[in-house]
Amino acid sequence: MKITWHGHAFFEILTSDGKNVVIDPFTDNPKTDTKPEDLDPDLVLVTHGHYDHAGCVRALDAPVVANFEVATWLERGGHQQATGMNIGGWTEVAGVRVWMAPAWHSGGLPNEDGDFLGNGGNAYGFIIDDGEQRLYHAGDTGLFGDMKTVIGEIMKPDIALLPIGDLFTMGPEHGAIAAGWIKPKVAIPMHYNTFPAIEVNVNEFVERVPKGIETRVMEPDTTITV
Ligand code: NI
Ligand code: MN
Repeated sequence: MKITWHGHAFFEILTSDGKNVVIDPFTDNPKTDTKPEDLDPDLVLVTHGHYDHAGCVRALDAPVVANFEVATWLERGGHQQATGMNIGGWTEVAGVRVWMAPAWHSGGLPNEDGDFLGNGGNAYGFIIDDGEQRLYHAGDTGLFGDMKTVIGEIMKPDIALLPIGDLFTMGPEHGAIAAGWIKPKVAIPMHYNTFPAIEVNVNEFVERVPKGIETRVMEPDTTITV
């Protein structure tokens, strides 16, 4: 897979079969120069309704997979075809197989100003399976024990994108524990240093990740191949 990080939880994934999957398109984040018109996704995944994740989703002309509440909000807004799902299920949309993972976090839907409109359901993560590898985007979450069993032992992702910015999610220490439980081949930190409130030292994560797991610290708006 080709993985492009646009800062925060905003990624573009190019799967081995050539699908472009955009996750949590927060184009307003200060770490990226990417604009909605620069994106041409086959599929968009939104982990939860918070503005720093739902971002510019309504400006994108592509199918979306999100939780039921966010998908309903999109459809009622008339913006695009949205598929709502919930924890533990697989779906295939636009030729991309996606599993919805649990996350420990809240949800909420933004209006045009980024203020909250209402309950957007809970927050989730996703696993993308392209037939060759599995990529886990943890969304916003605290550390939870099912990362070891359900995510790590049963779902076995090859790549894990893990929030480490603290305050709203795991910090570096819990992020490294999560990596050790999940045991991906490659762990990539995210959701840190976007704003002063979530500034952390990424080395505190890198140094704690158990040996045998490759940690890739990405610069915003760059791409790696895994
Ligand atoms: Ni959030
Ligand atoms: Mn967030």
